[in-house]
Amino acid sequence: MPGVGMRCIIAPSILACDLRVLGDSVRAAEFAGADWHHVDVMDGHFVPNLTFGPDIVKAVRRASTLPVDAHLMITDPARFAEIFIRAGANIITFHIEVAPKPRALLRKIRRLGARPGLVVKPGTPVSAVFPFLDEVDLVLVMSVEPGWTGQKFMPKALRKIRELRAKAGPALDIEVDGGVNEETLVACSQAGANVIVAGAAVYRSGSLRGAIRRIRATLKKNYLCDPCEG
Ligand code: DX5
Ligand code: ZN
Repeated sequence: MPGVGMRCIIAPSILACDLRVLGDSVRAAEFAGADWHHVDVMDGHFVPNLTFGPDIVKAVRRASTLPVDAHLMITDPARFAEIFIRAGANIITFHIEVAPKPRALLRKIRRLGARPGLVVKPGTPVSAVFPFLDEVDLVLVMSVEPGWTGQKFMPKALRKIRELRAKAGPALDIEVDGGVNEETLVACSQAGANVIVAGAAVYRSGSLRGAIRRIRATLKKNYLCDPCEG
């Protein structure tokens, strides 16, 4: 019963929004019922794409009151975590693959007032984060290779989500990211994910409100997410 008693969070990824009107987009997502804004930070080293720096986090923060979830896909998270927190990020996740001292960084993030989390790429066993479960508020399981919005969901993420939920119990927020849409989210939620990142499925759906409402309804209908607001 992975969802029972857990909150359900819908976090649209701004990577898929119309960046010409970033402020309007995130405000519209907030009014349409989103819970967090997911901001994909890519450095061109850890992933072959380059995206957003701290000024974009500041812009999102100014445009909306929702928590900002910064997903750091960068080779040196220890150098930049504080900068993103000062810019207004409320949740900071970084990749276990590039963190020589995850425990120290998780503690630092918490000390600085943000919620810390770890991320695993599709090729990384989820057991890599097990030694740090006492330090994290959330774990993000990637269901695409990091880099772009609009990729196809990789079902092998489901086994990892199940394994993590079994190990961590109901308190941990488990975030799934990549290729999640109205179809794939059912299996994600049944496996134990309660934080749903959705880029294209929300921002490129034609109707933010409709997409978010349908995602929430799908979660509710399956009794996977209780209590679930909206
Ligand atoms: C991929 C990013 C994802 C991506 C999700 O590297 O971490 O957050 O934006 O977009 P969709 O939901 O379109 O796959
Ligand atoms: Zn992401």
